[in-house]
Amino acid sequence: MPPHFRFSSQAAADAQRLNEELANLKAELAEERSLCGTSKAEVHELRVTWTALEPLEPSDLIQAASATSEVSRLQAELASQSNKLEQLQAQLEKQAVKAQEVRAQTLPAYADTLAQDLQPHWCATLAKDVQACGDSELASPLKADAFCSRPIVGRRPAAASLPALPKAISRLRAEVCVCGGSGGIGQPLSLLMAMDDNVGELSVYDLDFAMVPPGGVAADLNHLEKKVQVKGYVKSKEEKAIDVLGDCLKGCNLVLVPAGLPRKPGQTRDDLFKINAGIAKEVVEACAKYCPDAVIALIVNPVNSVVPAMAELYKKKGLDPKKIVGVTTLDGVRANKFVAELTGEDPKNIEVPVIGGHAGVTIMPVFSQDKHAAKIAQSEIPALDKHVQDAGTDVVNAKNGKGSATLSMAYAGARLGKAVLAGMAGTPTTECAYVMSDVEPGCPYFTSKARR
Ligand SMILES: NC(=O)c1ccc[n+]([C@@H]2O[C@H](COP(=O)([O-])OP(=O)(O)OC[C@H]3O[C@@H](n4cnc5c(N)ncnc54)[C@H](O)[C@@H]3O)[C@@H](O)[C@H]2O)c1
Repeated sequence: MPPHFRFSSQAAADAQRLNEELANLKAELAEERSLCGTSKAEVHELRVTWTALEPLEPSDLIQAASATSEVSRLQAELASQSNKLEQLQAQLEKQAVKAQEVRAQTLPAYADTLAQDLQPHWCATLAKDVQACGDSELASPLKADAFCSRPIVGRRPAAASLPALPKAISRLRAEVCVCGGSGGIGQPLSLLMAMDDNVGELSVYDLDFAMVPPGGVAADLNHLEKKVQVKGYVKSKEEKAIDVLGDCLKGCNLVLVPAGLPRKPGQTRDDLFKINAGIAKEVVEACAKYCPDAVIALIVNPVNSVVPAMAELYKKKGLDPKKIVGVTTLDGVRANKFVAELTGEDPKNIEVPVIGGHAGVTIMPVFSQDKHAAKIAQSEIPALDKHVQDAGTDVVNAKNGKGSATLSMAYAGARLGKAVLAGMAGTPTTECAYVMSDVEPGCPYFTSKARR
């Protein structure tokens, strides 16, 4: 502040005060004059006062005026600055609102894109590999087991043309449910999913007469050094899943379903259809009500028949039937392992696509598609095909009536589950799965490579 500023303000105030006094005196004088005439002494006195006032006027008042105008200029500048600030704040608020709108518009669309992960139009077109399908048998999706009478070997699937994908969106905190989570597959599957960093919440659901209460499985898994929260949900035989699974299923992104009876020696997967389709139906109906956007991965056998039945059920409800995914990953896992055993290659470097379905001859490993498997002599392929196709039955027989594949199935189920979540989180993944499909005309449901 310039040094004269304080003085000038004071001077201005004094001048103001004195001018006011002078004005009062003048007014009084005028009144005196009008009332009683003018006395010489008074006139003299007034002159003296008037003269005493004179020296205050010119310089001080000019300085005071300039100081006042400086203050006004600063005040005006301040006002304009705060005006600008208000405008910026308003702009900022507008931008925040706009950003919110953009988020609201983009995220659902993005989520929708992600939900299409396993849709056949993203799948590699493997149709050319399948030429031996029996037409009349294919009419009914429930007869999918019969659609192919011999395994396909040595033909190359056409390359997939895939849409551009959005960039990865960091880690998910997905909600996952394992239905039948206390069973032979369910427990190790729950363990493996709880270990996936993309899983934020895991629900373990089973019946009240299960081998272990689901609450116990949850308590056990909650001691893992993981951020995941595990909750157990139980249902009695009398209760209906659709009435009691609201808390368990609401918000789920992925529902893995190993709930159902396993095979016994001498049984085919089809022998399980009546009971297991009923179990799958009650789970799928509850999913339709509480988490219609979730991917439902059906492990329960017979996959070839349960998946079409449940997908048709979803379609009838006006929901997306492609959310229903049959888990055939174990066939690929086995094919990789058996090729590794034959070639001596590390299994982690082997990826044999297994297409078709998930029972007997519908399990079709395409060995030509893996660079290590492709080196196997053609004469060895029929036996290798059979080894993969019969592997499930081999485990059933080895367990001697005490169940079917559980640990390798949990591994395979978790592989598929993690792939789905990784895809949802924006990391491209490829797995074979049995889904409603148009890759092979006449095969409404088909296992093929799904990639994002
Ligand atoms: N897709 C595959 O490759 C593959 C491989 C192996 C087994 N499986 C199938 O997986 C299923 C499960 O096999 P598992 O060995 O774990 O059997 P399991 O009997 O050990 O476990 C099944 C669990 O499901 C529960 N359950 C039964 N009905 C239920 C219902 N209505 N709601 C919720 N939970 C219910 C049971 O209480 C049990 O805990 C079988 O159908 C089996 O054939 C599929």
